[in-house]
Amino acid sequence: MNILVTGAAGYIGSIVVQELIKERHSVVALDNLKHGHREAVSPEAPFIQAEIGGAERLGQVFKDNKLEAVAHLAAEVQVEESMSAPEKYFRTNLICGMNLLDTMLRYNVNKLVFSSTAAVYGNPDSIPIEESHPTMPINPYGESKLMFEKVLDWYGYAYGLKFISLRYFNAAGASDRLGEDHDPETHLIPNVLKVALGQCQHVVVFGTDHPTSDGTCIRDYIHVSDIARAHILALKHLERSQANKAYNLGNGRGYSVFEVIETARKVTGISIPVVNRPRRPGDPPVLVASSELAKSELGWEPEYRELETIIDSAWRWQKEHTHGYRE
Ligand code: UFG
Repeated sequence: MNILVTGAAGYIGSIVVQELIKERHSVVALDNLKHGHREAVSPEAPFIQAEIGGAERLGQVFKDNKLEAVAHLAAEVQVEESMSAPEKYFRTNLICGMNLLDTMLRYNVNKLVFSSTAAVYGNPDSIPIEESHPTMPINPYGESKLMFEKVLDWYGYAYGLKFISLRYFNAAGASDRLGEDHDPETHLIPNVLKVALGQCQHVVVFGTDHPTSDGTCIRDYIHVSDIARAHILALKHLERSQANKAYNLGNGRGYSVFEVIETARKVTGISIPVVNRPRRPGDPPVLVASSELAKSELGWEPEYRELETIIDSAWRWQKEHTHGYRE
C-alpha cells in the first residue's frame, strides 16, 4: 500500500515508517518538525515538511501521491502541558486532525489508523482496562484524542471512512537506529536514563501518595516496535473488513515509578538518585491494559514482554545517542 504517515519524524512515527518500509509498503513521511527529527525518517521515504492543518499544502500532498491509507500520529502529547494550555491540544489534535480527515475524503482515501491513547480512560475503575471501559479523560490531552475518536465514528457512519484507533499505553524503548528524543523530555524512562548517563543529578518522582502499593503511579510500558507492528496489522485488517473500532496496546502488566527506577538501576548498573515531589497534575494513578481484543482480532502479540528488555533497548540507544539526534 501507499501510506501517508503524519508525525513521521516523531518517536513513534519514525519507527512506524521504518516498520512499514520493512514490510515493503511505500511511505510518504509528513511532519512539521516542531517536535520531530528529520534524521529519524528512513531515507527510503520521501519527506514532506508540512502542517496537517494547512489545507492547501496538504491537498497538494494528496494530489501528488497516489495514497491509499493514512497512519495519523501527528499530535501534541504532553499530559501536563495540556492542563495549562488546552487550546493547543484541541487545535492540533482535533481541529487540524479534522482537516486531515476532510482532505482524505476529498481525495477518496478512506483508510486510517489513528494514534490514540490510554489517557481516554481517565481514572479507570477496573484493571486491566478493556476497550468497553467508560471513557472519562481527566486531562485535555486525553479529551482531545477521545473527541477525535468520536469524529471518526461519525465520519465512518456518514462518509464510509474505515478506521482503527490504537490506544497506546506507555510507549517505551528503542529500535536499533531510532529512539526517544523529546525537548523538553517529560517521560519517565528517558529521564531516568539521563540520570544514569550523568546528564541529570536525580530523577524527580511526581507523587508518592497515590493510591498504589508504593504510592507512585503505575503504568503499562509497551515497546515502541510492538506499537509500530500493530499499525501494520491494523492496515491489513482495514483492507479486509469495516473495522471502525479502538484497540488497546499494552503488555497487561503495570509497574510503579519506583519499580521502573529499580529496573533501570539493574539494567545500567548505576545507582540512580531520586527526589520526591508532589503529584503532577492530570496523572491517573493506575493505567494497565487488557489487549485481548488486539490479540484476537488483529493477531497482535507483543514481542517485548519484560520491562527489563524494554529499558535495555532504550539504554543501548541512549548510550549511543547521548544528545539524541543532535549528534
Ligand atoms: N514521572 C516521574 N518523573 C518523571 C517523568 C514521569 O515521576 O521525570 C511519572 C509520571 O508522573 C507518571 C509516570 O512517571 O506517573 C509516567 O509518566 P510519563 O510522562 O512517562 O507517561 P504518562 O503516563 O504521563 O503519559 C504517557 C504518554 C501519554 C499517554 C499515556 C498513556 O506520554 O501520551 O502515557 O498511559 F497517554
